[in-house]
Amino acid sequence: MQTRLLTSDATGYAAAAGIWRAGGLVAFPTETVYGLGADARDDRAVARIFEAKARPRFNPLIVHVASIDAARDLVVWSDAAEIVASAFWPGPLTLVLPLREGSALSALVTADLPTLAVRVPGHPVARDLLAAHDGPIAAPSANPSGRISPTEAAHVLAGLQGRIEAVIDGCACTVGVESTILGLAGDPVLLRPGGVPVEALEVALGRPVGARDDRQNLTAPGQMRSHYAPRVPVRLEAEAARPGEAMLGFGAVLADLNLSLSGDLTEAAANLFHHLHALDATEAAGIAVSPIPEQGLGRAINDRLRRAAAPKG
Ligand code: TXA
Ligand code: MG
Repeated sequence: MQTRLLTSDATGYAAAAGIWRAGGLVAFPTETVYGLGADARDDRAVARIFEAKARPRFNPLIVHVASIDAARDLVVWSDAAEIVASAFWPGPLTLVLPLREGSALSALVTADLPTLAVRVPGHPVARDLLAAHDGPIAAPSANPSGRISPTEAAHVLAGLQGRIEAVIDGCACTVGVESTILGLAGDPVLLRPGGVPVEALEVALGRPVGARDDRQNLTAPGQMRSHYAPRVPVRLEAEAARPGEAMLGFGAVLADLNLSLSGDLTEAAANLFHHLHALDATEAAGIAVSPIPEQGLGRAINDRLRRAAAPKG
């Protein structure tokens, strides 16, 4: 199979919608990372997502929809969902809510769980595509399982060329880390730190958001200890590079690449996967990373870095 590079205009969207209708896979930009999309109602198409990524198990996927109304059709809505959805959608927030009966989604999307992860992405290309397709799109990050998430069409092609029908060539992903996943099936719980800081969710909800209970671990890749992994070892909290290492800096430090010279966490998140891809492609024997403050978007950045640094296997 030859993977087509589609343009982000009406012609490209029509081609993508045609591929989705026919059960194919199209990678597309969102404001967080590139997603690998399939029609969420089509069992075979959703199964092909797992095959293309070589994802080891059938883990639940996030469903992307065009609007709050479209989300309400799929899940059992609540006051808390209304508050955070109107505050942060479209945007980098995923809500886990009870699956609505008769939603017509493939059981592979939810891994047969009674809940569904759903979000309304904010990237203009993703929004135009969802409007062109007129249906729910299941999409994990568009990388081979266990590798760094893609923030450019070129990253997607490097990992999935020949395994998927097409990639939309859109502008870069501005947030750069995956969406925050908020569990709202019971008391609010942070299932994954991401593009919306948990502090902002607590302000909107007017109550604390609990931590994930590891006894209910879904053993999904995003929750595995080693994930988002470059080929070479990653060393955290580094003041400087050791011989042979490349330095990924944060703030005013000497570095091969810097997440943000001025110490801006938003800029750092947007650069994170791009810089990891770039340093992983050099001859360096390892990647040393400056300390990142554990607050706001820093929580999501540190979560991804700790997984990148965790022993593999
Ligand atoms: O920013 C993002 O969220 C990107 C873009 C493409 O939208 N997508 C993404 O998908 O990061 P993925 O498959 O890499 O991560 C989905 C995560 C998994 O870790 C899984 O555990 C969690 O969502 N998830 C999905 N359904 C769930 C559910 N019903 N309950 C709890 N967690 C769920
Ligand atoms: Mg992923």
